Amino acid sequence: MKIGIDKLGFYAPHLYVDMNDLAKERGIDPGKFTIGLGQDEMAVPPITQDPVSLAANAAEQILDREDKDAIDLVIFGTESGVDHSKSAAVYVHQLLGLNPKARSVEMKQACYGATAGIQMAKGHIALHPDKKVLILASDIARYGLNTPGESTQGAGAVAILVSASPRLLELEKESTYYTEDIMDFWRPVYSSTAFVDGKYSNEQYIAFFQKVWKDYQEQTGRSLEDFAAIAFHLPYTKMGWKALRTVMEDAPEEVQERLKNNYQISTKYNRNVGNIYTGSLYLSLISLLENQDDLKEGDTIGLYSYGSGAVGEFLSGTLQSDFKEHLQTAAHQAMFENRECISVAEYEKVFEEELPTDGSEKKLNIDEDPAKICLAGVKDHIRSYAVK
Ligand code: COA
Repeated sequence: MKIGIDKLGFYAPHLYVDMNDLAKERGIDPGKFTIGLGQDEMAVPPITQDPVSLAANAAEQILDREDKDAIDLVIFGTESGVDHSKSAAVYVHQLLGLNPKARSVEMKQACYGATAGIQMAKGHIALHPDKKVLILASDIARYGLNTPGESTQGAGAVAILVSASPRLLELEKESTYYTEDIMDFWRPVYSSTAFVDGKYSNEQYIAFFQKVWKDYQEQTGRSLEDFAAIAFHLPYTKMGWKALRTVMEDAPEEVQERLKNNYQISTKYNRNVGNIYTGSLYLSLISLLENQDDLKEGDTIGLYSYGSGAVGEFLSGTLQSDFKEHLQTAAHQAMFENRECISVAEYEKVFEEELPTDGSEKKLNIDEDPAKICLAGVKDHIRSYAVK
């Protein structure tokens, strides 16, 4: 039985900052952001979007009534969840009107959570082929104003529907993974922004890639030549390239060219959104599938997932017939076109806006947010959402 990704949705907030503007304001050469890191724009979430609403908007785009009835497992991968106890999956389950006979759970391991969710979904579908699993990968990446990590912030969500007979990508059985306890990036429960040892996290991202890629080659007998493209977790779009180029030396020239070209295409959306943590790898996959016309049925796509702390995994899948017809290309392009560029001063104002934490009531103005699903307010420590 084929099991894999049947649908892919993506949502980013409607506001963004131009990285040239941010560089100017911070007294930095813009080339550091646009060339050195490979980021052109950074999504900015208004206070009316949190990881729950971002995920619900991404999923709403792809699910029809039949999907909603067949989903009996919702897995929410996030590292910026809104509650230490209740899972964000339960909120989204309600907002989307899913079948109540479902399991809903949140999963955490930095940017790796959604990949763990996908692997669990595969097992679930193997046991229950008539069911579907909804994976949500949603995060707001916050390092703080004027910090070295600021230029790698972002916000957005990817929704992934896993099923039997998938229409986009059949996920293959083989995958290799690796865990090691390291402190490259973390966010203690009392902190709203992350701590990061940036250079060390870059090194470890590459070291974990080399380990899982070596294991994958040994396990499968495959080499780079077998791949049409490899998509990477992208904290910023230069990162995956730094890892890929370390294993390319022995590959034939045309393979190197193909992988390099497809890598660039896979970074197109991420360049304009920034880091979305758990969803970054899958946003890159969407970018590749929606922007590369040369891909065809049977092509093998590699995926490198990395979650600081750290867990790395290399997995792969094969493209299905007519996969292009089941993508949301037009909707995603329209979403990008309709976004609003804000100044650095406006971004700083939005960044500093906070919800009350003392139980008092705050109603939010959702009229300025074009999203279908918004955070509408908080009262007695309870968040309320609106579906327009
Ligand atoms: N034009 C072009 N490139 C420039 C430049 C300019 N004017 N100025 C600097 N650069 C390049 C640097 O050479 C460097 O390239 P390299 O990495 O290929 O050597 C790159 O821009 C970044 O510069 P650097 O000085 O290393 O940036 P930094 O000290 O601000 O740190 C991060 C960058 C990514 C480490 C930092 O943003 C961070 O901590 N981010 C969060 C953590 C993260 O994303 N980790 C990734 C693994 S999950």
